[in-house]
Amino acid sequence: MSKTLRINGKTHQVDLPDDVPLLWVLRDELGMTGTKFGCGVAACGACTVQVDGEAMRSCQLPLGDVEGEITTIEGLGTPDNMAKIQAAWVEHQVAQCGYCQSGQIMQAASLLAENPSPTDADIDEAMQGNLCRCGTYPRIRAAIHSAAKMMQEA
Ligand code: FES
Ligand code: FES
Repeated sequence: MSKTLRINGKTHQVDLPDDVPLLWVLRDELGMTGTKFGCGVAACGACTVQVDGEAMRSCQLPLGDVEGEITTIEGLGTPDNMAKIQAAWVEHQVAQCGYCQSGQIMQAASLLAENPSPTDADIDEAMQGNLCRCGTYPRIRAAIHSAAKMMQEA
Protein backbone atom coordinates (compact mmCIF):
# COMPACT_ATOMS: atom_id res chain seq x y z
CA MET A 1 0.00 0.00 0.00
CA SER A 2 1.17 3.52 -0.72
CA LYS A 3 1.32 5.73 2.32
CA THR A 4 2.39 9.29 2.98
CA LEU A 5 4.46 9.81 6.12
CA ARG A 6 5.49 13.06 7.74
CA ILE A 7 8.89 12.57 9.37
CA ASN A 8 10.97 15.32 10.93
CA GLY A 9 9.02 17.97 9.01
CA LYS A 10 9.39 16.31 5.61
CA THR A 11 6.95 14.27 3.56
CA HIS A 12 7.88 10.76 2.42
CA GLN A 13 5.91 8.44 0.17
CA VAL A 14 6.39 4.73 0.81
CA ASP A 15 4.90 1.73 -0.93
CA LEU A 16 5.07 -1.20 1.48
CA PRO A 17 2.71 -3.74 3.11
CA ASP A 18 0.57 -2.42 5.96
CA ASP A 19 2.10 -4.78 8.49
CA VAL A 20 5.72 -3.67 8.05
CA PRO A 21 6.87 -2.16 11.35
CA LEU A 22 7.67 1.54 11.21
CA LEU A 23 11.20 0.73 12.45
CA TRP A 24 12.01 -1.07 9.20
CA VAL A 25 10.39 1.64 7.09
CA LEU A 26 12.68 4.17 8.76
CA ARG A 27 15.85 2.10 8.65
CA ASP A 28 15.60 0.03 5.47
CA GLU A 29 13.36 2.08 3.22
CA LEU A 30 14.32 5.62 4.23
CA GLY A 31 17.89 5.05 5.46
CA MET A 32 17.25 6.70 8.83
CA THR A 33 19.41 4.38 10.90
CA GLY A 34 19.56 6.47 14.07
CA THR A 35 16.58 4.49 15.38
CA LYS A 36 17.84 1.11 16.56
CA PHE A 37 16.59 -2.47 16.60
CA GLY A 38 17.01 -4.15 19.96
CA CYS A 39 14.38 -6.76 20.81
CA GLY A 40 11.64 -6.37 18.22
CA VAL A 41 8.94 -7.04 20.82
CA ALA A 42 8.48 -3.63 22.51
CA ALA A 43 10.56 -4.71 25.51
CA CYS A 44 13.74 -2.60 25.31
CA GLY A 45 12.98 0.88 23.93
CA ALA A 46 15.89 1.04 21.47
CA CYS A 47 13.46 1.74 18.62
CA THR A 48 11.62 4.62 20.33
CA VAL A 49 10.38 7.45 18.13
CA GLN A 50 7.72 10.07 18.73
CA VAL A 51 4.38 10.17 16.98
CA ASP A 52 2.70 13.52 17.60
CA GLY A 53 5.09 13.95 20.51
CA GLU A 54 4.25 10.64 22.17
CA ALA A 55 7.04 8.10 22.62
CA MET A 56 6.20 4.91 20.71
CA ARG A 57 8.01 1.63 20.05
CA SER A 58 8.48 1.64 16.28
CA CYS A 59 9.30 -2.11 16.18
CA GLN A 60 5.69 -2.83 17.13
CA LEU A 61 3.97 -0.05 15.19
CA PRO A 62 2.69 -1.34 11.82
CA LEU A 63 2.91 1.09 8.94
CA GLY A 64 -0.85 0.85 8.41
CA ASP A 65 -1.51 2.14 11.93
CA VAL A 66 0.81 5.16 11.77
CA GLU A 67 -1.12 8.41 12.12
CA GLY A 68 0.52 11.75 12.80
CA GLU A 69 3.87 13.49 12.64
CA ILE A 70 6.85 11.25 13.34
CA THR A 71 9.99 12.56 14.99
CA THR A 72 13.15 10.49 15.05
CA ILE A 73 16.52 11.15 16.61
CA GLU A 74 17.59 12.70 13.29
CA GLY A 75 14.88 15.34 13.74
CA LEU A 76 15.90 16.57 17.17
CA GLY A 77 19.00 18.58 16.28
CA THR A 78 22.30 18.51 14.40
CA PRO A 79 25.92 18.34 15.63
CA ASP A 80 26.15 22.10 15.00
CA ASN A 81 22.80 22.90 16.49
CA MET A 82 21.99 20.34 19.15
CA ALA A 83 18.68 20.15 20.91
CA LYS A 84 19.02 20.97 24.62
CA ILE A 85 18.44 17.38 25.55
CA GLN A 86 21.30 16.31 23.29
CA ALA A 87 23.55 19.00 24.77
CA ALA A 88 22.72 17.67 28.24
CA TRP A 89 23.60 14.14 27.11
CA VAL A 90 26.99 15.42 25.89
CA GLU A 91 27.54 17.41 29.08
CA HIS A 92 27.06 14.27 31.16
CA GLN A 93 28.84 11.98 28.66
CA VAL A 94 25.88 9.64 29.00
CA ALA A 95 26.58 7.17 26.22
CA GLN A 96 28.80 4.17 26.69
CA CYS A 97 28.35 1.85 23.68
CA GLY A 98 25.56 4.20 22.59
CA TYR A 99 23.23 1.57 21.16
CA CYS A 100 20.25 2.35 23.37
CA GLN A 101 20.75 6.10 23.47
CA SER A 102 18.58 7.23 20.56
CA GLY A 103 15.65 5.53 22.22
CA GLN A 104 16.58 6.92 25.62
CA ILE A 105 16.74 10.47 24.26
CA MET A 106 13.45 10.21 22.39
CA GLN A 107 11.72 8.82 25.49
CA ALA A 108 13.25 11.54 27.67
CA ALA A 109 12.23 14.25 25.19
CA SER A 110 8.62 13.08 25.45
CA LEU A 111 8.84 13.11 29.23
CA LEU A 112 10.18 16.69 29.28
CA ALA A 113 7.50 17.88 26.85
CA GLU A 114 4.88 16.55 29.25
CA ASN A 115 6.65 17.33 32.52
CA PRO A 116 9.20 20.18 32.34
CA SER A 117 10.47 19.56 35.85
CA PRO A 118 10.48 15.82 36.54
CA THR A 119 11.52 14.35 39.89
CA ASP A 120 13.81 11.32 40.13
CA ALA A 121 10.70 9.19 40.62
CA ASP A 122 9.04 10.71 37.52
CA ILE A 123 12.18 9.98 35.51
CA ASP A 124 12.45 6.42 36.76
CA GLU A 125 8.81 5.77 35.94
CA ALA A 126 8.97 7.32 32.46
CA MET A 127 12.26 5.66 31.54
CA GLN A 128 11.69 2.21 33.04
CA GLY A 129 10.93 0.61 29.67
CA ASN A 130 14.18 1.84 28.09
CA LEU A 131 16.89 -0.67 28.87
CA CYS A 132 20.63 0.02 28.81
CA ARG A 133 22.97 -2.94 28.91
CA CYS A 134 25.82 -0.59 29.81
CA GLY A 135 23.99 0.65 32.91
CA THR A 136 24.08 4.36 32.09
CA TYR A 137 20.94 4.98 34.16
CA PRO A 138 22.50 7.41 36.69
CA ARG A 139 23.89 9.57 33.88
CA ILE A 140 20.59 9.45 31.99
CA ARG A 141 18.82 10.73 35.08
CA ALA A 142 21.39 13.50 35.60
CA ALA A 143 21.17 14.55 31.94
CA ILE A 144 17.38 14.75 32.10
CA HIS A 145 17.62 17.06 35.12
CA SER A 146 20.18 19.22 33.26
CA ALA A 147 18.04 19.35 30.13
CA ALA A 148 15.03 20.39 32.22
CA LYS A 149 17.09 23.20 33.74
CA MET A 150 18.41 24.35 30.35
CA MET A 151 14.89 24.42 28.96
CA GLN A 152 13.58 26.42 31.90
CA GLU A 153 16.40 28.96 31.55
CA ALA A 154 15.93 29.35 27.78
S1 FES B 1 13.42 -2.91 19.42
FE1 FES B 1 11.54 -1.98 19.84
S2 FES B 1 11.34 -2.06 21.99
FE2 FES B 1 13.13 -3.23 21.55
S1 FES C 1 24.90 2.79 26.29
FE1 FES C 1 25.26 0.70 25.77
S2 FES C 1 23.27 -0.19 25.85
FE2 FES C 1 23.00 1.80 26.65
